[in-house]
Order: sequence, then C-alpha cells, then structure tokens
Amino acid sequence: MRQLEGKVAIVTGANRGIGKAIATAYALEGAYVALVCRSEPAATVKEIENAGGKCAVFHYDFADVAGTEKLVKDVAGKCGTIDILFNNAGTQSRHPCTEFPLDDWTRVLDINCNAVFFMCQQAGKVMIEKGYGKIINMASLLSFQGGLTVPAYAASKGAVMQFTKSLSNEWAKLGVNVNCIAPGYLDTEMNAALINDPVRSRQILERIPAGRWGKAEDIAGAAVFLASSASDYVTGIVLPVDGGWLGR
Ligand SMILES: NC(=O)c1ccc[n+]([C@@H]2O[C@H](COP(=O)([O-])OP(=O)(O)OC[C@H]3O[C@@H](n4cnc5c(N)ncnc54)[C@H](O)[C@@H]3O)[C@@H](O)[C@H]2O)c1
Repeated sequence: MRQLEGKVAIVTGANRGIGKAIATAYALEGAYVALVCRSEPAATVKEIENAGGKCAVFHYDFADVAGTEKLVKDVAGKCGTIDILFNNAGTQSRHPCTEFPLDDWTRVLDINCNAVFFMCQQAGKVMIEKGYGKIINMASLLSFQGGLTVPAYAASKGAVMQFTKSLSNEWAKLGVNVNCIAPGYLDTEMNAALINDPVRSRQILERIPAGRWGKAEDIAGAAVFLASSASDYVTGIVLPVDGGWLGR
C-alpha cells in the first residue's frame, strides 16, 4: 500500500528544486498532485506521468496574497478536495541591512510568509470541514539563525515557524496537522550565489557534519512522512533535514 494513495496534495513551487522532488515523491506514493507554479512545470509533469502518477497544473504568482482564496477554491474544485498542502515556494534577496530595499523586503515577506499563512488558512478550512488534513510549511535554518545579508528571508522563515505552531494549536484537535521542514544548505538554484562564492561555499561545507551539501531529493522522505498517517500524532514541530548543521 502506497502511503498517500487516494489523497489530493498541493505542492507550491513544484517546477524545480525541492518542490519538484516533493511533488514527484507524493505522486509516486499515490497522491493526485496539484502543481501550483509561477513557471511551467513541464519537467515535473513529465517525471510524474512517466512514473504512472497523476497531476494537474495551476499557474500562480504568490506575490498576489489575496488571490490565494480563489486559488484554493480552484484546486479543490478541479481535484475534488485537498488533503495535503506543502507550501514550498519561496524567494530570496541578498543585500546588506544598511541598503536592503523596501520593495525587496515586501516581496520576500509576501511570497515567503504572508501568502503561506493565507494558503494555510484557505486550505485549512477545507481540511477542518472534513476533519482531516496535513499541512507542511517550508521553514529554514534561518528560522533559527539570522544569516548574512538576508534579513527579509530570515524574518519570513522565522514567522513561518511561529505561525505554524499557532495553526497547530488551534487545528490539532480538528484532525489537521501543521508542521514545518527546515532544510539545511541544499544545492539548488536559490543557493547559486553561495555555491559560486568559493569562500562561503567552503565555510558552509566545513560546518556540515554529513560532509556534503544536501540535494533536493534529501527532503522527500521527511515530506512524505509529514503528509502520511505515519505522522498522525506529530504536529507543531519543525523537522530539520540539514545533515546535522543545527547540532553543531
Ligand atoms: N535550497 C536550500 O538550501 C533551502 C534551505 C532552506 C529552505 N529552502 C526553502 O525551500 C523552498 C524551495 O527552494 P529551492 O531551494 O528549491 O529553490 P528554488 O529557487 O529552486 O525554488 C523556489 C521555488 O519557488 C518558486 N517561486 C518563487 N517565487 C514565486 C512566486 N512569486 N510565485 C510562485 N512561485 C514562486 C520558484 O518558481 C521555484 O519553484 C523555498 O521556500 C526555500 O526558501 C531552501
């Protein structure tokens, strides 16, 4: 028996990187996956369909926070319901704190934090109605740490960790689990600036007990666990998948 057989799962930002790995893993575990993406998720669709899985594509830009209500209605209408929501989409902006532009601050907070909360709110209503649901939000090591030149990102990921607990406190008794995953340093496009900086890249690698940067696929197991009945009594947590970084 596959772990997500018959479930409907939303994965945001599923066109590449970690979102692509999670969407593919959910489909392989039997879920019907709604790929919510700003860019065309052709590679993800191909991988899922080649493996015999099922998915539907919804185009959306999470800079539009208010539109999440209609988005969730559209997904529930087309896919029948929503059992699982993985809020993966996220963005980054790097500037020293003295120069951080207001536009970038607002954009990062809208995409990484505000839209995530309202996706939880809207999908949560569908889940509460049926007394079942699994929400997983993408936190980060920067939910715990401040990082360098990324204050908006750190603020957004700290907020995601905190409101995940708020949602869990209200919804756990209603059958809806709300948790976070905090990936460590992964080799994805979001980290291109770090990977291409030989000094920062070496410093980061030296601190990772596992001795390597993570891959997008390293997140899939934890994502399936928190979406499946194996985690029915797990709620309000942040699960680090970081090669041991936080233990240092
Ligand atoms: N790579 C890492 O080391 C790392 C570590 C911790 C957390 N994360 C988080 O994991 C998530 C995925 O990141 P990734 O590493 O795969 O990077 P990525 O840049 O490859 O993926 C980001 C995804 O978010 C989507 N996205 C960005 N802005 C969007 C918008 N306005 N509307 C819709 N979609 C949008 C992109 O299209 C893409 O699909 C992000 O939330 C990121 O903050 C990544």
